[in-house]
Amino acid sequence: METDVKRARPRAEGKKWRLRCTINGRKVDVRVHPHQRLLDVLREELFLTGAKEGCGKGECGACTIFFNGHPADACLMLAIQAEGAELVTIEGLATDKGLDTVQEMFIREGGVQCGFCIPGMIMAARALIDENPNPTLDDVKYGLGGNLCRCTGYSKIFNAVLHAARLEYQQVEEATA
Ligand code: FES
Ligand code: FES
Repeated sequence: METDVKRARPRAEGKKWRLRCTINGRKVDVRVHPHQRLLDVLREELFLTGAKEGCGKGECGACTIFFNGHPADACLMLAIQAEGAELVTIEGLATDKGLDTVQEMFIREGGVQCGFCIPGMIMAARALIDENPNPTLDDVKYGLGGNLCRCTGYSKIFNAVLHAARLEYQQVEEATA
């Protein structure tokens, strides 16, 4: 029988450890239990609820964050693994200048339905475009292969990511012409 991950989660008891890291550009100093998952500390201790828990076992990508510049499933990490790390969550993607291009394109293309998968999907898409600024549709499908969506049928999500990549690529081309 499959384990119920949420019910099997250990209770937060015993000594807490100090965790110092940077999240969305801010220094964080928080006490965590050694068995607490990074996703739970983000959501329950720091109230950064953008990263979602879908499967809790690394299959859906709803909890995707950046960990030292790379996409990572926060449900699969212990919080104490983030000691000294630089984290970015969906809350840290927009800047004073506005939304990230990927966020804007998700809105423009209608890539959001219930929204549950979207924070993770956008973080994965941002990582994909940072790695490959001019992706093909196949690159996008492959790059988002670890992020599941139950609502959209994916085509609007893929369009949003392709358009975001093309827009940024075009801006870089124009700036360097
Ligand atoms: S909740 Fe982390 S991968 Fe599904
Ligand atoms: S928009 Fe609902 S799960 Fe993706």
